[in-house]
Amino acid sequence: MKSEPATLVRRLLAWYRENRRDLPWRGAPDAYRVWVSEVMLQQTRVETVRPYYERFVQLFPDVAALAAAPWDDLFRLWAGLGYYRRARLLQDAARQLRDRNGGRFPENYDAIRALPGIGEYTAAAIASIAFDQPRAALDGNAYRVLARLADDRREIAKSAVKQSLGTTAQLLMDAVHTGERGDFTQALMELGATVCVPRAPRCEACPWVAACAGFAAGSAPDLPTKAPRRTSLRISLAVVIARCGDDLLLRQRPPEAAVMPGFWELPTVPSETFDKTHLASLRLEGVERIGTFGHAITTTNYTCQVYVAEAFGSPGNGYGWVARSQLGSLPLATIASKALRLALGEDSRTADPKRVPRL
Ligand code: ADE
Repeated sequence: MKSEPATLVRRLLAWYRENRRDLPWRGAPDAYRVWVSEVMLQQTRVETVRPYYERFVQLFPDVAALAAAPWDDLFRLWAGLGYYRRARLLQDAARQLRDRNGGRFPENYDAIRALPGIGEYTAAAIASIAFDQPRAALDGNAYRVLARLADDRREIAKSAVKQSLGTTAQLLMDAVHTGERGDFTQALMELGATVCVPRAPRCEACPWVAACAGFAAGSAPDLPTKAPRRTSLRISLAVVIARCGDDLLLRQRPPEAAVMPGFWELPTVPSETFDKTHLASLRLEGVERIGTFGHAITTTNYTCQVYVAEAFGSPGNGYGWVARSQLGSLPLATIASKALRLALGEDSRTADPKRVPRL
């Protein structure tokens, strides 16, 4: 580091106090609220989280309320935030705290870390923000800031690199005064989220610019170094909107599904078309293709062909009839919802114009 840790900490905290965003979890720190916010903020942007967080703490204001919540209520509240496993683990942890800890959130770092859904980063964030403990919490934003500060050009995903940036972060945290550790944790993330941003950092606005080796070397915008992206997988899917009078054929995904548990899906097969075997097992006839859309999840790109068909009986296998008028109130899996929008002519970019609207 080109500057003393205490100097860097002082500059960062002064900057944070002037520039921090007013976020709903940044009032008087309460461990429960900090915990909920940090879990929601895993893999999700601040602006997306904000309204969900506000509704969540209103409906479930403490560990007891979360532990007692019916899963359907929690699920409905979480719908749209994604990564539903987080909500399950959050409730598992709340029930564990209710049953074993009198409903209190623990202060001890190891006890926090041992809760379902809490990794090293989240545990350190909660320990520092809620309990003023000197634990450095490093999320993607913080790693980027520190890699630039040190002009560390090694690949960021390597554990040795993370470890060495972690050592720097802890050195800084150890220079933070009592009562300011939570602010330091949030300041480092805030700097990464608002100034030391990925492609075009606003170095002129940075409290660390004079100490930043990446700025001095001109390498800051290119850091951290990432491994080339894994080439993505391409998968074709055929999705069918099967009609019988006013009803459509759908089924609910199992609650333990890794992707979109509890959401409703249309009959889908992993190929471009429905062959005779599919049609017989789904009890469909008169199948017609009406359009195509793309759907990407992490490194998989799906190309979905959308069909409509007449159903002549329920195929079992979890499928059932859902009235069209009910569709708006069901949580639909993204692929089903895109297919239905296409069929309704609401997404004219992907629909075959000769064939919509179909429903
Ligand atoms: N990202 C993760 N935790 C955060 C926090 N407490 N404030 C802003 N962004 C965050």
